[in-house]
Amino acid sequence: MAVVSLNNVLEDHLKIYNNIGLNEIKFFIDGLQDIIDSQEKMVHEGIFSLIIKLMQQKDELLIKQAKEVKFEGLYDHSWNVKEHSGRFFRFLYKNQRQIEDDDLKEDIKKLYGIGGKATVYNSALLHDIYKLLIPNWILLDKNNFEEKSNGYEKTIIEQHPVAGAKIIDLIKDLERFAEFVKYHHEGFTNYGVNGRTPYPGELTGRDIPLCSRIISLVDDFISRISDRPYNSKMSVEEYIIRLEEDSRGKLDPSLVKMFPKYLEKFSKNGSYEVPLNKTIHTV
Ligand SMILES: [Fe+2]
Repeated sequence: MAVVSLNNVLEDHLKIYNNIGLNEIKFFIDGLQDIIDSQEKMVHEGIFSLIIKLMQQKDELLIKQAKEVKFEGLYDHSWNVKEHSGRFFRFLYKNQRQIEDDDLKEDIKKLYGIGGKATVYNSALLHDIYKLLIPNWILLDKNNFEEKSNGYEKTIIEQHPVAGAKIIDLIKDLERFAEFVKYHHEGFTNYGVNGRTPYPGELTGRDIPLCSRIISLVDDFISRISDRPYNSKMSVEEYIIRLEEDSRGKLDPSLVKMFPKYLEKFSKNGSYEVPLNKTIHTV
């Protein structure tokens, strides 16, 4: 795997956030630098490739290292989004007769042709990888997720799909997942939902790759039923009831129609939870 140059990442930050005051940039870079300094070995090997490896290999030492670098929630979140996204895609593929939207059926076949479930699994696993480089004090502050916030912290958070895609694009064998990561926070009709604006805001509707649309929905699901900085936890039952209304404009309505059916099937064993590390999927 290629070693990602963190210097390049820092330079990118300077370019991307050139409107931010110098002192504020310094705070942000100091935060990055803390991570870098504390994990020199990881950086040397490429922090990103190491994280990918640990998520695939269930290596206790690697997991311990990752949890020291970032809060546990990011690891669990990525794993849950990965598992449900892959399984939801398989459900869609197997239950196409229940889908009324012919465009969606066509997109399912297309995605199947470029790796199908494996592509969805891997893209979903990587979707928030850039958050590894965002200091916890930014990620865990609820205020940074508020629409009314205009702080540079919010800008940094909203940069994570594009910046994550850039990083993935640098890693051999993972490049093909970059575009799916890039578009996992787009809005289906480009309208802000629940006071939130889509980002990067380049694509709408079917132009958003199906893989990204699936990740977007599952990400929303996992976030809403978990304790996250930006929303209070709800039950799965409540999520299903509110899904259609709450997701309007943001998520693909044809996927939204199928998701409760998927959850119903998935929960036949009595739980919506995916056991962490139960299955190993290689890239
Ligand atoms: Fe994200």
